[in-house]
Amino acid sequence: MAEGDRRKVIAVADAGALATRAADRVLARIAENSGRIAICLTGGSSPKQLYQLLATDAYSSKIPWDRVHWFIGDERFVPVGDARNNMAMARDIFLDRLAPASHIHPIPTDIASPQQSAARYEDELKSFYGAEQLDAARPLFDLVLMGAGLDGHTASLFPGYAEIEETRRWVVGVPKANVEPYVARVSLTLPVLACCREMLFEAAGTAKQAILTRVFSGENLPAARARSNGETVWLVDRAALPEGFRGN
Ligand code: 6PG
Repeated sequence: MAEGDRRKVIAVADAGALATRAADRVLARIAENSGRIAICLTGGSSPKQLYQLLATDAYSSKIPWDRVHWFIGDERFVPVGDARNNMAMARDIFLDRLAPASHIHPIPTDIASPQQSAARYEDELKSFYGAEQLDAARPLFDLVLMGAGLDGHTASLFPGYAEIEETRRWVVGVPKANVEPYVARVSLTLPVLACCREMLFEAAGTAKQAILTRVFSGENLPAARARSNGETVWLVDRAALPEGFRGN
């Protein structure tokens, strides 16, 4: 079994503990790489506390900001001034104050269509990576942060949608979301998200327990199919942990 086929589940007490564990993993991945580092952020509400922690002196002083590049795994196709824009949330909380502007890589939404946005972001990722083809032995990202929706989606890859099967394109436009906000999305595809040293999911709260039960039982859902070629880790708080599941 390849390393990426395994999923490690770490159970923590609550959302606060989860954010601390996630922030510590961000620092650990950064510490492992003495060269250029790429981190792929995620949207939704789950990473908010993590981003707030990264903004504190305790964490920000340990990040070599001049060596870290920040990407985003999916975007809602709304202007940056819209509160629902994923990268805008990360920028407001920590990036704009701490990261060099040229190291912040948002998915563009000031463009005619999600498809054009996807094509442009794909070009940006390829130029950053320095190749047209991904090589699992040379990860694109050091760390990819992820969340899971109540329908089992991850990034903006929704259950039953064709985009989940995409293997050629790096980034896709998704005309309509399966869940709120019902706006068009732009999403990295599974093979691109997988090209990382670590994929780190955060899930907290009782509302997530039912979908995590389905994901961990191996149902064919995007959140279950999303795996790293390296390490895949789920940080789950007690309220979201499926019955009888203790972590591994
Ligand atoms: C988005 C996301 C999405 C998110 C999940 C979980 O744009 O909404 O990137 O995949 O991670 O929906 O969202 P919550 O963290 O809000 O539960």
